[in-house]
Amino acid sequence: MTRTLAIAAAMAAAVTGLAQAQDAGAGKDVFKKCASCHAVGEGAKSTISGPVLNGLEGRKAGSVKGFDYSAQNKKSSLTWDRATFLDYIKDPKAKIPDTYMVFPGIKNEGEAADLWAYLRQFGPDGKMK
Ligand code: HEC
Repeated sequence: MTRTLAIAAAMAAAVTGLAQAQDAGAGKDVFKKCASCHAVGEGAKSTISGPVLNGLEGRKAGSVKGFDYSAQNKKSSLTWDRATFLDYIKDPKAKIPDTYMVFPGIKNEGEAADLWAYLRQFGPDGKMK
C-alpha cells in the first residue's frame, strides 16, 4: 500500500514537473513579444526601452535602479507576483494608467501564464532559481 502510494506520488510529481517545464518553454516563445524592450538572463540590463525583468517575482514595481520609470509605475505600489502580473499583462494601461509601456497586452490567458512560468525562473542575478 505504502509502496503504491509512493509510486503514485512520484508519478504525480513527474507529471507536474513536466507540465511546468512545458509552460516555461512555451513562455520563452511568448517572451519574443517583450524582447524588443525587455531583457532577462545572466548579464541582462535595462535599456532605454524597458527595465530588466530579472528577479521579477517578489519585486516592487518601479524599483530597478537607473531605469527612468513613469510616475504612475513608481507610485503603483504593486509587487510582482503571479496574480498581479497576469492582471497587468492582459492590459497594462488598465492596471497602470499612463504607463510608458506601449504594449496592447496579452489577452490569451494560457500564453500569459506560460510567460509568467518563464519569467519567474530568473533570480535577481539573472541565474535560474
Ligand atoms: C515597446 C516596449 C515594451 C514592450 C514590447 C513591453 N514592455 Fe514592459 N515595459 C516597458 C516600459 C517602458 C516599462 C516601464 C513602464 C513605466 O515606467 O511606466 C515596462 C514595464 C514593465 C513591467 C513593470 C516592471 C517594473 O519594474 O515595475 C513589467 C512586469 C513588464 N513591463 C513586462 C512586460 C512583458 C512581460 C512584456 C511582453 C509581453 C512587455 N513588458 C512588453 C516597455 C515594453
